[in-house]
Amino acid sequence: MRIGVLTGGGDCPGLNAVIRAVVHRAIKAYDGSVLGFRHGWRGVLQSEVEELDLTKVSGILPRGGTILGTSRTNPYQEPGGEARIRQELTARGIDVLIAVGGEDTLGVAAKLHDSGVHLVGVPKTIDNDVNGTDYTFGFDTALSIATEAIDRLHTTAESHDRVIVVEVMGRHAGWIALEAGVAGGADMILIPEYPASVDEVCDVVRRRHDRGKNFSIIVVAEGARLRDDSGPVQVQSERKDAFGHVRLGGIGATLAERIEARTGFESRYSVLGHIQRGGSPTAFDRFLATRFGVAAVDLAHRGGFGRMVALRGIKIVDVSLREALGSPKTVDGESYDLAKVFST
Ligand code: F6P
Repeated sequence: MRIGVLTGGGDCPGLNAVIRAVVHRAIKAYDGSVLGFRHGWRGVLQSEVEELDLTKVSGILPRGGTILGTSRTNPYQEPGGEARIRQELTARGIDVLIAVGGEDTLGVAAKLHDSGVHLVGVPKTIDNDVNGTDYTFGFDTALSIATEAIDRLHTTAESHDRVIVVEVMGRHAGWIALEAGVAGGADMILIPEYPASVDEVCDVVRRRHDRGKNFSIIVVAEGARLRDDSGPVQVQSERKDAFGHVRLGGIGATLAERIEARTGFESRYSVLGHIQRGGSPTAFDRFLATRFGVAAVDLAHRGGFGRMVALRGIKIVDVSLREALGSPKTVDGESYDLAKVFST
């Protein structure tokens, strides 16, 4: 079998581990071959390819990013996109394409599957917001980075008697904010799913002062909104990418400014941004990504087209792409209740 593989959307630690696992499994277990498409769907549209063999993937397991490159290209926004993808796959003799990505990349995969293209999906994103899988790889690494940053900000906040607002990634889902915030001992966590008001945040900070704690750490997801503002989420740029996403950012600065104005306590903010997506994957992410890569090749050989590999409990299973992409996996009330234990 000739397998094509691409990585699309925002990068995340563990992508190279998937690519390596796909190549090892395809060649060693099935005597097949693997063609890498560069820069996600763009590489299929523009015929940017690279033959992948065991030598090409040697040494990439601990490396962050993706050796194939990535992009947010949406073939459905390009003239004749779907037909060009089909032509390229046929011309290259691809039997099955493994698409590694989040909601956008896998959304394209689902549409292409409906039109008859043989595809298998592998879910990735630091946001952990893909339904159908308990975890996406990349999330655990982002979580570790954000938690370490919160620990570091704690010591400086305490030394200076400051409030520090830490803005982390998370467009629709607050998983990074919630889990890194709890793991890092944040005093309040704001996420897109449950808007809070500035007054609520100020109350938490004041109560801490009353208890003799003259510093506070507030963690906020970039996609969170303040209940005081009826408007949309804060953005760095209104310009939309090919999937209709604006560039988020700014809530941390706004919140710090308002806390200082209302409480009089010196407040600063720190935006972790792409640091959360860079560097070497954790052992958890390397292991999960490797299992996903092997399972995706096996799924392709079983003819499980239009499906995605997933983690359920401790087992790797597969689910239909349509089922997984119906809606994003957001933070449920019960999970968020844990954060509230420490802000009251
Ligand atoms: O989807 C993953 C993610 O890291 C989001 O948390 C974030 O909003 C977005 O990607 C940033 O994308 P970009 O790197 O294109 O600015």
